[in-house]
Amino acid sequence: MATIKLWFGRQNFHLSKSFLLLKIIAVVFAVLLFCEFLIYYLVIFRCNWPEVKIRGYDSERETLEPVLKAMFLADTHLLGKVRGHWLDKLRREWQMERAFQTALWLLQPEVVFILGDIFDEGKWSSSQAWADDVERFHKMFRHPHHVQLKVVAGNHDIGFHYQMSTYRIKRFEKVFNRERLFSWKGINFVMVNSVALEGDGCNICSEAEAELIKISHKLNCSREAHRSSQCGDGQLLPASAPILLQHFPLYRRSDANCSGEDAAPPEERGIPFKERYDVLSQEASQKLLWWLRPRLVLSGHTHTRDWVYTNQTRVCFCPFPKSFSNSYML
Ligand SMILES: *[C@@H]1O[C@H](CO)[C@@H](O)[C@H](O)[C@H]1NC(C)=O
Ligand SMILES: *[C@@H]1O[C@H](CO)[C@@H](O)[C@H](O)[C@H]1NC(C)=O
Ligand SMILES: *[C@@H]1O[C@H](CO)[C@@H](O)[C@H](O)[C@H]1NC(C)=O
Repeated sequence: MATIKLWFGRQNFHLSKSFLLLKIIAVVFAVLLFCEFLIYYLVIFRCNWPEVKIRGYDSERETLEPVLKAMFLADTHLLGKVRGHWLDKLRREWQMERAFQTALWLLQPEVVFILGDIFDEGKWSSSQAWADDVERFHKMFRHPHHVQLKVVAGNHDIGFHYQMSTYRIKRFEKVFNRERLFSWKGINFVMVNSVALEGDGCNICSEAEAELIKISHKLNCSREAHRSSQCGDGQLLPASAPILLQHFPLYRRSDANCSGEDAAPPEERGIPFKERYDVLSQEASQKLLWWLRPRLVLSGHTHTRDWVYTNQTRVCFCPFPKSFSNSYML
């Protein structure tokens, strides 16, 4: 009798122990599933595209126009070989991939722009390290064929002005298109290599300025009611003010006037910006505004949210989960 009791007791003990273990595994699994997977759906699900109402000819009625759904990211800083620890890399890249893939799935943008600093070490990486970074980029930011992905170069991709070289720019443009002007659904996007706007007349800088003047000319032709003879018979762009996309922000003295979620912390807002380092020079900023007369300028670089210059364009700002600190969806 006694032995049987003991046997049952042990069995119970074994059962409850494995039950406890099972419970722990289940809890850990649930936590991981939630924090590393489901949270992205929950957070991004709260974002919505704004409904754009455009007054039709009949001013009584408001009609819904077809709209272009565009998503903007900046400063993804894929860690490189030199400064990236494998664990840090693994974690950040998982977060970015999940955030991006979830946003693609839930929001279904038609075009995605990345406003520079896609890579952290493009400014000095060897060709082998560069190829490795590019491969990981393609895996993380994979997207269906009908979604277009456009990028502009940042100082970490091709180096600051003093590090920038034709080799690095070519290498970058071989992976990503070297397109500067992109029009879709009546919207013109101008993608500026803002690292080349130093204004010192270097070769790369003069080329970049010449390109911008050409684009300015094209845009002016499409905006003029009576085309001047200089416009030629080329295909006209949609007659709308462009949206300017660049890595460096336009010149501003500081972030003192910025507020809201994802703005710089209050104690940092008053710190003056350095021209040609934190922001474009006043001269380059003025040129961009004169030449292109944009209705909206979006930029990256400062890792804080800002909007510098907007004219009647609605943008839905939607932050990613907090832990995903290196990138913002604008
Ligand atoms: C286009 O028009 C703007 C505004 O009138 C002007 O500032 C700019 O220089 C023009 N661009 C070219 C290439 O003439
Ligand atoms: C903040 O905005 C005011 C009013 O528009 C302007 O006068 C001031 O220069 C701005 N400050 C900064 C640092 O940009
Ligand atoms: C803003 O847009 C309106 C209408 O398109 C235009 O009349 C106005 O000049 C623009 N303002 C600036 C600062 O570009």
